[in-house]
This record gives sequence, C-alpha cells and structure tokens, in this order.
Amino acid sequence: MSVLKLCHVDKVYGERENQVKALRDINIQVKEGEFIAIVGTSGSGKSTLLNLVGGLDTPTNGKILVKGREIGSLTRKELTIFRRRNIGFVFQNYSLMPVLNVYDNVALPVTFDKGKHVNHGYIEELLKELGLFEQRFRYPTELSGGQQQRVAIARALVNKPAIILADEPTGNLDSVTTVEVIGLLKSSSRRYNQTILMVTHNEGIAQICDRMIHIEDGRVCTDRCQFLQKGGDVLC
Ligand SMILES: Nc1ncnc2c1ncn2[C@@H]1O[C@H](COP(=O)(O)OP(=O)(O)OP(=O)(O)O)[C@@H](O)[C@H]1O
Ligand SMILES: [Mg+2]
Repeated sequence: MSVLKLCHVDKVYGERENQVKALRDINIQVKEGEFIAIVGTSGSGKSTLLNLVGGLDTPTNGKILVKGREIGSLTRKELTIFRRRNIGFVFQNYSLMPVLNVYDNVALPVTFDKGKHVNHGYIEELLKELGLFEQRFRYPTELSGGQQQRVAIARALVNKPAIILADEPTGNLDSVTTVEVIGLLKSSSRRYNQTILMVTHNEGIAQICDRMIHIEDGRVCTDRCQFLQKGGDVLC
C-alpha cells in the first residue's frame, strides 16, 4: 500500500506579477520502506515539496495523502499531532534546541506529546546506536557538525515515524560523516520499514537510493526506480 500519495499538486507563492509557480501538477506515489532521493537544480521546488508533504505548508491545488489521510482535511491541532506521530524532519542546519542537552533534544518530540509515554530505554538505545550515548549530557554547541546531525536524526527517529523528510541532511558534512549519516538513515528505514524522502545535491548519494525523483522547474522530469527495475521508469 502507498504510504504517501500526491495527486495533481500545485504550489504557487505570491500574487499576480510576483507569482512563482514552485510546483506544477505533481503526481507521486510512494510505497512503504522506499528510500527516495529528490534531486534538481536550485529553485526547482525540492524543499517546497518536502514542506507540503510534512504539512508545514499547504498546496494551492491538489491533494496529499499520508497513510491514507488527506492532510489538508485535518484541523491545525490534528495536523500537529499527526505530524509529530508520523513524520520525522531532518534539516541541513540541524535545528536543535541550544538550551537542551543531547538527551533532551532527542526526547523532545515525545515529551511534547502529552498523550505518549516516554520510553527512556528506546531513547538510550537510539543514542547508543548513533554513537551519542557518551555525549548525552552535552549541549549542541559542544558537538561537531556530524554529531549535531546525528542528534537531529535521533530526534527524527524517536517516534518511529512512517515517513522521514530530510532536506540536504549532509549538506554541511564532510564526506566520511556523510557516508555515516546516510548509512544510519538507510539502516533505520530497513529496520522499521520507514519511508525516506531525501533532498540531495550529491550524485553519489542519489545513486544508492531505491528511487530517484528529478524535479526541474516545479515538475517531475524523471522518476526512476533504481533497484527493482534498474533503469525503468516508475508508473504513478
Ligand atoms: N516562501 C516563499 N515565498 C515565495 N517564493 C518562494 C518561497 N519559498 C520558495 N519560493 C520560490 O519557489 C521556488 C522553489 O523553491 P524551493 O525552495 O522549493 O527550491 P529548492 O529546489 O529547494 O532549491 P535549493 O536547492 O536552492 O534549496 C523558487 O523559485 C523559490 O524562490
Ligand atoms: Mg531547498
């Protein structure tokens, strides 16, 4: 079953002469567990796509279904809860809370969710797996870029979300740390059957994903499955 479906999605920013058509008639279906690279030149609409899928912004036209629910039909409150439980975000600038230590940054999405029990055992397991356990009482400013990004990944994984949205998660990292971070995302997606949509400018990284969606000028120009049918186009 598809965990994510975009049907005829358009996104227009601004009014009249200032209008920017950031996305035009986007149709994408994503299966559970797919690891997808989103590629395209600067300004082609990649971040806009991720923001719409994550419910951080709304499409001008069209529908987005996450796990069968149309996110545009949810109230603000429902959307906040739905997002927290189903979607994990990883951004290029890590976006950690500077006043919280590593442990509390990772636990944040769970502590926000009042209806949810905080599973300290799982948080510790994640920290160990990501090589952050020793650093759990440190603050973000006391960590390297790679360590900060690993904290951001742990935070995105803590609710075991169905979908992880990563906008150039390795954009600020050196090549060794990049390989490490991608490996972590990949192993988590395999383990929990999580779907990952990752924007990247790195051709090498895009090649190792299951599928590559190339966006230019707000449109999908190629959508290729790289694993199952090497070289074959995906029919959406
Ligand atoms: N909030 C906004 N208001 C107006 N225009 C916007 C806004 N956000 C993005 N745009 C425009 O929409 C288009 C797509 O932007 P988007 O940020 O999605 O591109 P991108 O593919 O992520 O680029 P990059 O690789 O540089 O991050 C661009 O022309 C951009 O200027
Ligand atoms: Mg962007």
